[in-house]
Amino acid sequence: MVDPKRPPVPPAKPGSSSLSPAVSSLGARPASPLGARAATPAPARPQSSLSSSLSRPLQPGGGIAASSSAPARTLGGLGQREGGAREFVFTSADFERVRKLIYQHAGISLSPAKQDMVYSRLARRLRATNKNSFGDYLEMLEKGNSDEWERFVNSLTTNLTSFFREPHHFPIFAEHLKKLGSRNPIRVWCSAASTGEEPYSIAMTVAETFNSFTTPVSIIATDLDTNVLATADKGVYAMDRVERLSPDRLKRFFLKGSGSQEGYAAVRPELRRMIQFQQLNLLNASYPVKGPLDVIFCRNVMIYFDKPTQYKILSRFAPMMQEDGLLFAGHSESFLHAADIFRSLGKTVYELSRRTR
Ligand SMILES: C[S@@+](CC[C@H](N)C(=O)[O-])C[C@H]1O[C@@H](n2cnc3c(N)ncnc32)[C@H](O)[C@@H]1O
Repeated sequence: MVDPKRPPVPPAKPGSSSLSPAVSSLGARPASPLGARAATPAPARPQSSLSSSLSRPLQPGGGIAASSSAPARTLGGLGQREGGAREFVFTSADFERVRKLIYQHAGISLSPAKQDMVYSRLARRLRATNKNSFGDYLEMLEKGNSDEWERFVNSLTTNLTSFFREPHHFPIFAEHLKKLGSRNPIRVWCSAASTGEEPYSIAMTVAETFNSFTTPVSIIATDLDTNVLATADKGVYAMDRVERLSPDRLKRFFLKGSGSQEGYAAVRPELRRMIQFQQLNLLNASYPVKGPLDVIFCRNVMIYFDKPTQYKILSRFAPMMQEDGLLFAGHSESFLHAADIFRSLGKTVYELSRRTR
């Protein structure tokens, strides 16, 4: 798995790049406009769809790219000066202020062990906003600078993900889809989509189950972090992110880049169109997601919340679900403390408890 907070995919140079279909068994189409991840944070679009106009056109033609890795973060990017001395004073009181703000806004509980991580991520924001101290920066936030709030939140989320992460969930999901038979629509919500690997894995499973890109399944993928959503929306990945997919999945679902896109793969437009991306904070009192939902993926995000916050979120999920709906959680997440709402089926899969049906 790769930390998506590493430097973004370099943008395509107009006229010098291409994405070409390999072989397709679900219907090949020529490469369509797709682009690389935005180098700057996406503009604030609370609760609205992210448009594909973020993409840049790529020219057709070109060959199959070799595998390559994205560059690692630089020392400068970690906000440390040579020799390890910090550029800004960061006191325990500053850290406590950050902890309080991110907890109130996003529900994220930062442990004391995260102090260095917080420093290095926020030092960049101090530089970008020309602030000389954490005190000045945090005061600006507390006064309600909404643009910077988004960047502050984006800086502090952890977006680690990968295609078919926790792979045992996907056959269970596919079986559930088959069981639902002729239900139309079947609604699936991926509630912490990060850079898109999870919702695209969901969409691939749906396309494989129905052997088509046109299915009764509607997939909504949301996340708090607008930067990762912009990456998800584009669906362009370094080859090292996709190389563990089977050759069949690569052929069916991806276009490979050449020229300045060499080393990158883009999800096919047919797969991209199966998903609607939208920004959503799980801490909000209500969610603009249309139910009733057949499946919720809420994996590896509850781990950042304390138990009372988890309980609140689970009690919001329950009334949105079909009686036979399934909830998929992350490998280290347990909702035993919410057994009155969700009942474990094993393998971190949950169904509604009798009381909530
Ligand atoms: C570690 S990633 C997990 C990604 C994916 N679900 C997986 O399992 O691979 C956690 C994601 O949760 C998102 N997140 C954190 N707090 C959130 C909140 N309050 N509401 C919605 N998403 C949140 C982060 O932005 C991040 O993309």
